[in-house]
Amino acid sequence: MMQASRGASIGMFDSGLGGLTVANALMRRLPAESLLYFGDTARVPYGPKSPDTVRRYALQIGEWLVQEGVKCVVVACNTATAHALDALQSTLSVPVIGVVEPGARAAVRASRGGPIGVIGTSGTIASGAYTRAIHRQSPDIDVRAEACPLFVPLVEEGWIDHLATRLIAHDYLAPMREARVDTLVLGCTHYPLLAPVIAAEMGPEVRLIDSAEETAAEVERILAERGLLQDTSGEHGREPTHRFVASDAPQHFLALGGRFLDVPLTAVEYHVFT
Ligand code: DGL
Repeated sequence: MMQASRGASIGMFDSGLGGLTVANALMRRLPAESLLYFGDTARVPYGPKSPDTVRRYALQIGEWLVQEGVKCVVVACNTATAHALDALQSTLSVPVIGVVEPGARAAVRASRGGPIGVIGTSGTIASGAYTRAIHRQSPDIDVRAEACPLFVPLVEEGWIDHLATRLIAHDYLAPMREARVDTLVLGCTHYPLLAPVIAAEMGPEVRLIDSAEETAAEVERILAERGLLQDTSGEHGREPTHRFVASDAPQHFLALGGRFLDVPLTAVEYHVFT
């Protein structure tokens, strides 16, 4: 495996804007690190696409990030992690970190014995990736998984606290309430924005797991292990740079991206795969 420099950026990608929830967690946890974020807005959503198609897109983006000189690749998309993590890890020359394993670990830690609920896109749920990852941590725990495909377009539309969103959440989450899950994994990068609506439906006893924080901790651990954390001492303690790149309509990304970040988004570049 190629040894990148510790001053290089952390590369990350998502099908669109949702992965910015992971970027935000990384900026908070590792403020000295530079980021290169790619949002595949030309091909979003990944959720309903076939595993082969998502894998092809993910490999294209991962290879581009490595060409841009990143020191690791964070797959900040649950669907891409579910379908393409193994392929990325065996192809790319830098460490690759997904969001499913960290989310599963956090869920098992938070649960008081289960059942654990998982919600995500159709692709993520059909892949069974979360159920397998949770069972690797705790083989006997009961896992209930449900796809919530309308949540992504609702978030993209900004309908965060809207009557329609509350009605849809009520319907989608009924099986989770009936199963009396004690922990619910928000297994899609868009869902943390709906956390207040989801929490209101599930009640205060149910713990909601957002894999972004846990993924940021995993990135820190892997970079530290490989001696790749940014050197913050002396002349090395430069201001980090954050690059955001979209494959379509950077203006749209610029207008909506701020919703997912604590800091203002000031510039978005454009890159298209031919
Ligand atoms: N980012 C995707 C995920 O976390 C959701 C959006 C999509 O369907 O592309 O699964």
